[in-house]
Amino acid sequence: MKMMDINKAFTLIEPGPVVLITTNDGVKNNIMTISWTMVVDFTPKFAITTGAWNYSYKALKEFKECVIAIPTAEQIDQVIGIGTSSGRDINKFENFGFTPEKAKNVNAPLIKECLANIECKVIDIIKKHDIIILEGIAAYFNSSRKNKQTIHAVGDGTFVIDGRKISRKKAMQSKLEGII
Ligand SMILES: Cc1cc2nc3c(=O)[nH]c(=O)nc-3n(C[C@H](O)[C@H](O)[C@H](O)COP(=O)(O)O)c2cc1C
Repeated sequence: MKMMDINKAFTLIEPGPVVLITTNDGVKNNIMTISWTMVVDFTPKFAITTGAWNYSYKALKEFKECVIAIPTAEQIDQVIGIGTSSGRDINKFENFGFTPEKAKNVNAPLIKECLANIECKVIDIIKKHDIIILEGIAAYFNSSRKNKQTIHAVGDGTFVIDGRKISRKKAMQSKLEGII
């Protein structure tokens, strides 16, 4: 093996799917793209990394709620557009052709066209590392969607599209019993 740039090491750890985070700041709905995510244990808790440089941050901090929407492969250009523009300047729902749907427990909207949506409360903000901890309180999945392939960011402008699904459920039984 050859040495590689330590600053590129993050590209070796491909995270979960790229997600869209919707918020409502009391004035309007907004969407941002997030690839830095983490599942927290076998719980409905999730960590995302973001900060005050984004318009969405103020709504997350003040209203303490959001929706995590999961886009699929054919929505890649909308995902990039949403992640390279700001709700400060445009209405992203209108601009990128997504439909806001009323959520049950939060003012942030679901995205109708996405594969799944999770209504979340912000339960902690770890300022030192710009980590926000979310707790999911309701989840929706559109099983009638033909394409369920999610998008995975490498971190250098390239993406891996979800492929083959394999099972090792039996071998992992001791870890999963009573949980899944
Ligand atoms: C593929 C992709 C992944 C991104 N991941 C993150 C992320 O994990 N955290 C973050 O703060 N910004 C991330 N961004 C950038 C934000 O989505 C971007 O700054 C956006 O303009 C914020 O929108 P807002 O100003 O309307 O909140 C990502 C952008 C793209 C295109």
